Parts: sequence; structure tokens; C-alpha cells
Amino acid sequence: MSTASGPSSSTAWPCAALSDVPLSSRTTLRVGGRAQWLLEPATQEELRAAVVATRERGLPLRVLGGGANLLVADGVLPGVVLATERLDRLFRPSGREETAPLDAATGEPVARAAPETREADPRLVAWCGATLPALVTAATRLGWSGLEGLVGVPGKAGGGVAMNAGGRWGELWDVLEEVRVLEPDGTFRDLARARCAPRYRDGNLGDSIVVACVLRLAPDDPAAVRERTREFLLEKNRVQPVSEASCGCIFKNPDPEASGGRSAGRLVEEAGLKGLSVGAARVSERHGNFIVNRGGARASDVLALIRRVREEVRQRFGIDLALEVRTWGADEGEPTAG
Ligand code: EPU
Repeated sequence: MSTASGPSSSTAWPCAALSDVPLSSRTTLRVGGRAQWLLEPATQEELRAAVVATRERGLPLRVLGGGANLLVADGVLPGVVLATERLDRLFRPSGREETAPLDAATGEPVARAAPETREADPRLVAWCGATLPALVTAATRLGWSGLEGLVGVPGKAGGGVAMNAGGRWGELWDVLEEVRVLEPDGTFRDLARARCAPRYRDGNLGDSIVVACVLRLAPDDPAAVRERTREFLLEKNRVQPVSEASCGCIFKNPDPEASGGRSAGRLVEEAGLKGLSVGAARVSERHGNFIVNRGGARASDVLALIRRVREEVRQRFGIDLALEVRTWGADEGEPTAG
């Protein structure tokens, strides 16, 4: 542990701080090394102060949401990892519930909204640490449509906005009305949807940190919302290895014109790579775009497997698959987020 960054005491930082923290248990893939510093701000002001303090010390800064789309390299990751875990507020922006935060784990108080207020203002405010499952649950209980396609996606609102989480049945930015970001210089900025240019799997917000977002949903028949949500979840559970440790899809789907409409998972399957393993990392037999950790995999195993799959697909089909998963601390020359 370097001491160049100051005394290894949490009081040196403007929020809760830990040094030399294992990260694998904070990611869904469950691989990777340790963070030099892990900061856990509990308010937006603490978040701002933590970013400013990190900059003042000249340390690299990375933001950790639910760790659901993340591959952390083995070894020590120098600098600061800023966890959004404690920034987990979820609430309605107007009406009687204005000051009553919802349980970010269950979205519970939302369900008690009086029927007459249900239609009035179908918006939810989520701070970056609110979970995507809590958002989906809240919307389902209110009978508001727009988040059904995100059912089964792990992770947090901040990562979901930054990455434009979603899939075949919709993306988070489809229902995003406004996003609050923290610029690298420590300024908060509220951006209306019209001022942003999200793309497939990319909120396109540059170096800004997502602090919170406002989602506008559509009041619908609650039973219909529930049914769609249920169907999408069943379909995901059928085709994805949901009970195994993974980081979701490894690659972005290629341009359909270049791939003849074939998804990344399909190309991996056609290349005969399902089941291919390096150490305890294996290409899922169920879905070719997932790598699962069968227990005790190292990040280096996963990175080596990604390289092999990419290489095979390139040789076989002439298609260079871009990474969807974010990588932290991988060596120069390793694949980077595409
Ligand atoms: N397919 C295969 N073999 C496979 C996997 C898929 O032939 O091993 C075929 C399927 O039969 C289907 C097509 O490829 O015809 C597309 O597959 P799927 O419906 O599973 O969707 P996907 O494009 O692979 C996308 C998102 C997922 C999201 C699902 C459902 C990307 C890279 N992936 O998967 O997102 O859950 O749609 O909405 O866009 C993630 O981002 O981490 C993720 C899992």
C-alpha cells in the first residue's frame, strides 16, 4: 500500500473510506483484486467532496455501482474506487410522498400511493445507488409501464444510466427525463434528455459521474405491466445463465449489416466456442455471450478467454467483437471497453 496518498485513515477523506479492499465480492462475476481506497459517500455533497479530494491527491478515480458489468483485474488497483452503495434513494418527485424516500431494496412505500395520485405524476427519482431491480419493482407495483424490459438486470441506476442498460425490450434511456451528473471539476449539472445523445449500451456522458436521474413512465393497467414483466423475466431465465456468476453480456452485439443479423452470442455459438474454458472461467453453454465463473476463476482466466473468443470470431467471420463489459486495471494490450 502506497503512503503517497496520505495517511491510511478514514478521517483523511470527506466520507466513509476503507483501504486495501477486496473488490471481487462487490462484482457479480466475483473475480479481481483489491482497491487501494474504497470511498462510500452517503450524500451528494459527500460524493462531490470525495471527487474533489481524489483529484487534489492526483489519484485515479473509478466509480463502482452494482459491479454487474465489470471485470476487475487481479492485483492492486491503484487510486480510489467510489462506491455508490449508500446513495440508494428512490422516491416520487411530487405529491404527498415527496419527502418519503422509498426503500431502495423493495420500493415498498411506492405501493401505498393512493390510486388518485397514481396517474398524476408518473415519475420516479433514483439516486445512483438505487438498484435497478428496486426501480422495476416500484414501477410494477404502481402499474407504470416503461421499465419492464429491465427486469432481471442487476446493478444500480447510476451504472444503468452510464451504460444505457437494457436489451431487446427497451433501454433505460427510453424513459429517462433528466439526469444529474457531477463533472470532473466538481460541478453538478442537470441535463434534460434532449441535451444528451445516448447510444446502444452507452449513456455517452463522458467523464461525468451519474448522480441521480428522473424517469418518466406511463400509467397503464397494473395487471398488464405485471404480466409483461413476468414474461420478460421468464424469457431471460430461459436463455441466460442467471443462476451463475457472470458479468452479463461480454460483447456488444455487432452491426447487423456486418454480421448478417447475428448477435454476438450467436456468433460465439456458430464458432463452436460454447463451453470453452480457461481455468474456472467458461463460455456459458446456455448463452454464448456470457462467461461464467465456475468458482475461483481469476480475472486473468476471464481475460484470456475473452481474447480467445474474440480471436476465433475474428478469424472465422472477420468480425471484431467490441467489449460491452468494462475492464478495470487490465494490462496494456488487453481488450478495453469497446
Ligand atoms: N443466440 C444464439 N446462441 C446464443 C445466444 C443467442 O443463437 O448462445 C441467438 C438467440 O436465439 C436470438 C439472438 O441470438 O435469436 C439474440 O439473443 P438474445 O435474445 O439472448 O439477446 P442478445 O442480443 O444476446 C440482448 C442484450 C442482453 C439482454 C437481452 C434481452 C446485448 C449485448 N445483450 O442479448 O443484455 O438481456 O438482449 O433483452 O445487447 C447485457 O447487456 O449484459 C445483457 C445480458
